[in-house]
Amino acid sequence: MDKALRIFQNEDRQYSFARSGSGGVTKINNRRYLGNKYKLLPFIKEVVDSECKDIEVFADIFSGTGAVASAFTDKKLITNDILYSNYICHVAWFGNEEYSREKIGEIIKEYNNERIDEENYMTVNFAGTYFSRENCSKIGYIRQDIEERYLNATINGRERAILITALLYGMDKIANTCGHYDAYRKNAELEKELKLALPVPEKELNPDNICYNMDANKLVKMIRADLVYIDPPYNSRQYCDSYHLLENVAQWKKPKVIGVAKKMDRSSLKSDYCTNKAKEAFTDLIAHIRAKYILFSYNNMGEKGDGRSNARMSDRDILEILEKKGRVKIFSQSYKPFSAGKSDIEENEERLFLCICDKNEDEKEKKGDLIKSPVNYTGGKYKLLPQLLPLFPDTNDVVVDLFCGGCDVGINTPCRKIIFNDHNDRLIELLKMLKNADPAGIIKRLFKIIDDYGLSRSDLNGYAHYGCNSSEGLASFNKDRYLRMRRDFNAADIKNRDYDLLFYLLIVYGFNNQIRFNSAGAFNLPVGKRDFNRKLQKKLTDFIKHLRNIDCEFFNQDFRLLDPVLLKEASFVYADPPYLITLATYNERNGWTENDERDLLELLDKVHGYGVKFALSNVLTSGKRENRILKDWIERRHFKVVRLDMNYGNSNYHKNDRSKKEEEILVRNY
Ligand SMILES: C[S@@+](CC[C@H](N)C(=O)[O-])C[C@H]1O[C@@H](n2cnc3c(N)ncnc32)[C@H](O)[C@@H]1O
Repeated sequence: MDKALRIFQNEDRQYSFARSGSGGVTKINNRRYLGNKYKLLPFIKEVVDSECKDIEVFADIFSGTGAVASAFTDKKLITNDILYSNYICHVAWFGNEEYSREKIGEIIKEYNNERIDEENYMTVNFAGTYFSRENCSKIGYIRQDIEERYLNATINGRERAILITALLYGMDKIANTCGHYDAYRKNAELEKELKLALPVPEKELNPDNICYNMDANKLVKMIRADLVYIDPPYNSRQYCDSYHLLENVAQWKKPKVIGVAKKMDRSSLKSDYCTNKAKEAFTDLIAHIRAKYILFSYNNMGEKGDGRSNARMSDRDILEILEKKGRVKIFSQSYKPFSAGKSDIEENEERLFLCICDKNEDEKEKKGDLIKSPVNYTGGKYKLLPQLLPLFPDTNDVVVDLFCGGCDVGINTPCRKIIFNDHNDRLIELLKMLKNADPAGIIKRLFKIIDDYGLSRSDLNGYAHYGCNSSEGLASFNKDRYLRMRRDFNAADIKNRDYDLLFYLLIVYGFNNQIRFNSAGAFNLPVGKRDFNRKLQKKLTDFIKHLRNIDCEFFNQDFRLLDPVLLKEASFVYADPPYLITLATYNERNGWTENDERDLLELLDKVHGYGVKFALSNVLTSGKRENRILKDWIERRHFKVVRLDMNYGNSNYHKNDRSKKEEEILVRNY
């Protein structure tokens, strides 16, 4: 029998082994949760085991209790739920931080033996509702105490999560409800005593498991998995309404509560899947999933139950959306639906839609809907992204883009947060400004400057209007005007409101869209062939919109001086330095020396030592030149090298020229 299932079958017995003084032990499914799939695990396991091959990364992106993930602990797990009260339990059950079972056991024993009679947030707001005053006093006391122990560093993050889980499970056992907190029973006897049991996570968990607490639609843009399991709400019941009290205690921000049911403000926790936006949300979700398989749970309540229980999407919708991604197979099993106590509706089946995603092979990358930097930075990696992104780690929390340039890589790397760093201070200031900009406003201001200098607007007037043609470009018309703008920029005060915009226009109208300063710090490139055309306007708009939507921070540091804490706390560091043996504008005047190369490799050794994944872009050979320093280092450290095809997607490339070309590589420590 499968290991995960065996554990489940033993667990009820384990729970009754309560030792005196302790509340015993508890397992993942010892709680009530609407729509939890614990009973369906054999069915789900059977479908996965028989239909899906080579599953190493299993993502349960609407995890709820985490029951489904718990049946796949032999894989790397990605869990997620919009509710913090579920997320914190996932950290307890699947997290990778070490914890002391003994210490937690002792603390739980203390809690169970203590008699608490204090006034606190819980007694003031909830006494005599879902819990007795005495139990409220104890819940409030315990939750506060967990927070204080964590703040005093006497427990770590995982231990905090396990204690909160113990409290939430303990509350669920005695709550005066029928399993959810939409209402409590009036005049019920509230005599059950709060007892906490010790959550016992499995011992052999994958150390790379990762738990998220975010909207699943945002998450899928950050992760890659072999199988993504999807179990969203089916109907109009919002989980944040049903579990507001557990969420309140888990978050412990002590908000104001209102109404008879004493609910806090839950506006940020509402799910689109419970509304008429469900189909739209599901379409977006599926389109962005990067996986070999999608397994989707949805029951066929259709129009059978009461209004609130009716499914939000029809089978036709589901199939239409999934089939865009690949072949779909449907498996079914009878079950009892949830319908406010009336569970006698006939022919209810829990269905599993399995989609074998054979139509989407890195669809996003191939379709080219990647964000392209409006700063056409020399050495920018945009063209290589379809090859690079699949080589990055499956899940990224915080990513550092150490030499970000125009941000092409960082902005397209799925992650929760991105740190952009570059030693070019003007570039970083420009990017920071764009992050907070309104795209339409910026474009308007750019046009105003363009008009002030009398520069070309080929988007409005074409090339002939300026006495130019497309192959020779606009240089002859723009030259003097551009030089006047360059002179003004070089003389301008950095505090000038338009400073960043002038800099941007110098790049746009400048030679090959490059950036170059002389030793006195003056921008010194000559005029270029192009102007602020429609394509660039769109790129800039898309870039700003995307930048505003992502969590990112900008640093302007020499790589040696970047705060090591940023590197230690990152989940992935990407380094795209100037290449020692090739010449780029930024590499002129000895811009990148052998010393820089050695310092960077030393820094990457440190990153490796912190246990953080890194990838380094570079070239090993260029014509007859060879980067020995890099070659030796790779050999000594046994890091992996992936050779990239520089001419990917370029049909003009003649294979016999290959010897003359540079060989782009990616060095990885994972
Ligand atoms: C049907 S339950 C999942 C049950 C789970 N499979 C189990 O066995 O316990 C749906 C879950 O989706 C969560 N949820 C709803 N909307 C979400 C969203 N947009 N992103 C992430 N989670 C969401 C809810 O909080 C709820 O826990």
